[in-house]
Amino acid sequence: MKDKFSGKFIVLDGPDGCGKTTQTKLLVQWLRQKGVDVATFREPGGTAIGEKIRQILLNPDHIAMSTAAEVMLYMAARVQLWTEKIAPALKAAKCVVLDRWLSSTCAYQGCAGGFGIDHIIKIAQDCLDKPWPDLTIILDVDLETAAQRLNRGLDRMEQKGDGYHKKVREGFSQLAKDRAGFAVIDASADIQTVHKKIIELVEKT
Ligand code: TMP
Repeated sequence: MKDKFSGKFIVLDGPDGCGKTTQTKLLVQWLRQKGVDVATFREPGGTAIGEKIRQILLNPDHIAMSTAAEVMLYMAARVQLWTEKIAPALKAAKCVVLDRWLSSTCAYQGCAGGFGIDHIIKIAQDCLDKPWPDLTIILDVDLETAAQRLNRGLDRMEQKGDGYHKKVREGFSQLAKDRAGFAVIDASADIQTVHKKIIELVEKT
């Protein structure tokens, strides 16, 4: 089991309120119980520079920020995380588990923001050695269930409204349909049911 996950790169992603942060924690716990050496990070963030970029991106005062500026900032945080943390962890044969990745930029800025998914992938290919993980699990959830789960103050991206978030969901589906290494899970179920489905997928990797 330990060796099976050495150097594996796994991402959990999906719309706001899909439960991926909880599910990432449960997956990491499960892997560690099996003796797997796991490095886990959130996006944007995971480095000192990335956490500063995160504050700029999510600050509700920054309503003037353009989609292109968002793309560059999310990508900058990602490149820093890759260079400083992910690449060394994979080289050391750790299993890397991420809360969001390039799939988010494709769904949010690429689809919902209108920047274009292909355009974003091109930028990622130019600045990341390994743009796509071994497995990306998309936690799909409808807008109503997601909104019920976000019962706190909303950040700048979460405040963008239903029309935008509907397109985010479509963006994730579109991306998962066209690519190998993607799987979609119905994340409207309870925490343990979703966790079980994630483990089934991860065990098949
Ligand atoms: P989080 O709340 O899941 O940590 O993510 C922060 C917000 O940033 C969330 O609303 C999704 C958004 N986001 C993008 O719009 N593009 C991206 O590339 C990433 C990683 C996140």
